[in-house]
Amino acid sequence: MTSTDAYLSSLFSLGGRVAVVTGGSSGIGRAIAGALARAGARVVLVARREAELAATAAELVADGCTAAWVSADLGTRAGVRDAAERAAAVYGEPDVLVSSAGINLRPPMDDLDDATWDATMAVNLEAPFLLGQRFGPGMAERGFGRLVHVSSQQAHRAFVTSGAYGVSKGALESLARSQAEAWSARGVTANTLVPGFVLTPLNARLQADPARVAALADRTLVGRNGVPGDFAGAAVFLASAASAYVTGQSLFVDGGFSVH
Ligand SMILES: NC(=O)c1ccc[n+]([C@@H]2O[C@H](COP(=O)([O-])OP(=O)(O)OC[C@H]3O[C@@H](n4cnc5c(N)ncnc54)[C@H](OP(=O)(O)O)[C@@H]3O)[C@@H](O)[C@H]2O)c1
Repeated sequence: MTSTDAYLSSLFSLGGRVAVVTGGSSGIGRAIAGALARAGARVVLVARREAELAATAAELVADGCTAAWVSADLGTRAGVRDAAERAAAVYGEPDVLVSSAGINLRPPMDDLDDATWDATMAVNLEAPFLLGQRFGPGMAERGFGRLVHVSSQQAHRAFVTSGAYGVSKGALESLARSQAEAWSARGVTANTLVPGFVLTPLNARLQADPARVAALADRTLVGRNGVPGDFAGAAVFLASAASAYVTGQSLFVDGGFSVH
């Protein structure tokens, strides 16, 4: 290993780390899981659909990575608790938890009913909270941990029927700050990645309108919409030793969407 390789490795290598990535079978979570695995972590993907999970894990294993999956519904508290136990049983207690699983149901505010509110809060906010409660204290006891949440620009502004979704994401960034307050002194950081508009299955309906997609790209400073791979570097940074002094923060990975 050259001295450059050794230096980069001391900052960013995830060798020896175990990571659990919810939503790791699709979109942003899938790209993050791939990035963490390629940086050396043993990765457990958590989502519902088995075919997508198996395909993602198989692709990583074929690439020389160590990856496994757990199929679970994070939409109920019992489901989250069960998922956490099964995920931890694969490679042991995680050092890194990425909460990317999320839903955006987008009813107009007038039609936002209890069921949509509850479903949104369960997956987008309660699951990251419960997983943090399950894994955070152990990370603190071991002296190292990384909690990485995936929020949204809708935590910061109303945009395309923000409804319950924007509320859940605003609270998620507050959750990261609460976790940072609780555990940072014991080596556990908690941060949030904030995407702008990213081309994933989540917003397939919006993508059906090319004029809308082009207008959103124009709103960025970079001049294009996001793709899942845009999150790879930021995720490795927030999961690695390099970010030890970064905690409670919201890191916008949005091509400059939010700064004008
Ligand atoms: N795309 C964007 O423009 C954008 C912008 C801002 C924020 N975000 C956020 O980024 C995160 C990832 O979204 P994405 O765009 O990558 O969407 P995506 O491709 O639809 O991925 C969502 C992931 O969450 C999983 N998931 C959803 N409900 C679940 C449940 N009840 N239990 C377990 N897993 C569940 C899905 O798998 P299964 O369906 O198989 O369960 C899938 O793996 C979300 O938190 C989203 O809010 C996205």
